[in-house]
Amino acid sequence: MRNVTVWKIAACAACVAAFAPWSAPSYADDPAPARIARPQSRLPAHKGAIASAYPLASQAGQEMLAAGGNAFDAAVAVSAALAVVEPTSSGLGGGGFYLLHRQADGLETMLDAREKAPGAATRDMYLDPAGNPIARASVAGPLAAGIPGEPAAFDYLARRFGKLTLKESLQPAIRLAREGFPVYPRLQAAIRYKRELLLRSPDAAKVFLTAEGGVPELGAIIKQPDLALTLEAMAAQGAKGFYGGRVAQDLVNGVRAEGGIWTLEDLASYRVIERKPLVGNYHGARIVSSSPPSSGGVALLNALNILAGFDLKQIDSGTRKHLIVEAMRRAFRDRAVYLGDPDFVSMPLALLTGQDYAAGQRSSIRLDKAMPSELLPGIETTPVGLHTTHFSVLDASGNRVAGTLSVNLYFGTGEMVPKTGVLLNNTMDDFSIKPGTPNVFGLVGNAAGNAIAPNKRPLSSMTPSFVETPKGLMIFGTPGGSYIISMVILGTLDYLDGMSAAEIVKDPRYHHQYLPDVIEYEKGALSQSEISRLEAMGHKLEEGSRPWGNMQVITWDFASGKVEAAADPRGEGEGLIY
Ligand code: DON
Repeated sequence: MRNVTVWKIAACAACVAAFAPWSAPSYADDPAPARIARPQSRLPAHKGAIASAYPLASQAGQEMLAAGGNAFDAAVAVSAALAVVEPTSSGLGGGGFYLLHRQADGLETMLDAREKAPGAATRDMYLDPAGNPIARASVAGPLAAGIPGEPAAFDYLARRFGKLTLKESLQPAIRLAREGFPVYPRLQAAIRYKRELLLRSPDAAKVFLTAEGGVPELGAIIKQPDLALTLEAMAAQGAKGFYGGRVAQDLVNGVRAEGGIWTLEDLASYRVIERKPLVGNYHGARIVSSSPPSSGGVALLNALNILAGFDLKQIDSGTRKHLIVEAMRRAFRDRAVYLGDPDFVSMPLALLTGQDYAAGQRSSIRLDKAMPSELLPGIETTPVGLHTTHFSVLDASGNRVAGTLSVNLYFGTGEMVPKTGVLLNNTMDDFSIKPGTPNVFGLVGNAAGNAIAPNKRPLSSMTPSFVETPKGLMIFGTPGGSYIISMVILGTLDYLDGMSAAEIVKDPRYHHQYLPDVIEYEKGALSQSEISRLEAMGHKLEEGSRPWGNMQVITWDFASGKVEAAADPRGEGEGLIY
């Protein structure tokens, strides 16, 4: 085993060059891989595939593919169906990111459908006059809700990329909202957990609770007639059916009646923004991932660049996990320090995702010792559920979509705006409400990057991604708040280690997010000897009490044409091949 003798910290670009040369293991000496041959020149997939967090949503997508639609039509149908049948996790009142690949011309783009702060939002809106955070202000009530982006994404996807009309792609969701769907265990558990919150919103209580305000039985049918009407308004008028007219007026009335600050102008001016995805290389694999205001792609590429300098296959598993954790620590630290909405802050993205910077960070990693986060110059400082959702689609032509969507916490704020069926998100909590004050995911941010400003989009951890090698590709992502980034790093490594889709979604996970300075892990993620080894290196470890994530993976093997779709066994999703 090699010992590294430089312990300094790569705190900034200028520091990088100052480090003593890294005595690199073999991989670092490899020439940087040339751009990976993109698979569009290859044969189309034999089959299409959909993996989503709930079978009815996967089936909605399949219905579009069977009707002659493409992956983008299926993405609309899956997202809209998830908004109905998985209201804990995403919905018309929320937002997200869609990573797209169009096979015909190789176009790669990301739809940023992230919520934006209302025009009347202010930097200190969740602080009291003394400048202290007001408890729960950024997660409870309509002040916590950003202007939704998901409905605009449906319209954009259908118009710009689909073969079917929005009206056609929304039909399964309209049907599910009107005719209802049966309560399933995870939904029932979420309703039980959030019952008090749902009781405070008469419309939400009417939909999700029994007439007596109780938790519905498994199999009870949940109908959402108002949501069906809102979806129908969109089917008839496109985005205007949500951001204008009757629905917009009802949304603004409902939000303002409860003390919110939305305006008609906030809704009318909402736009999906197409952004260039981030692209990187890792040992010959081409990684395509989300760009800011998602922090996920930056962190993923940065962590992989750091790891590229180690030969992970040649070292013992305890050291391997130590190195992955040290890469996570550094990537998360930069998330807190640098990142935000690219329309508001300038970020050194090329530097943060570049090899030189990673080499500097790598030189601060010892093979035998944890680096306490407090030694990383940065800033000062709850666990995860299955809120938020991810789905992956591959159609038979090779078009692909990785979509991660959210209302933030279970049912968002829990408030359903009267007459609309729309649950309000509480995504404003993803802003840094005060420098150094952690959000619900324990994430910290500094003043500049992720402070609240009117019309600004809060930084996200959602990381829809593609991994391509000369042999095949993977389309994937997961919910899980800050844990998303670690899960995507581990999922990438798993795929490149040759795991199948089913193995990747099942693999136990571990996580480090810089602050708090602790490795959290799922039961079974670390063996007893790995735990002892990591503790001996100075890591603090904590076994999580719950499983994390709900990863949806599609893989395509170019040589055999074999396509696999796997849903995380932690949820009740379904991977379909058609
Ligand atoms: O955008 C984000 O990073 C968060 N709003 C995602 C929340 C989430 O994944 C919750 N899931 N457990």
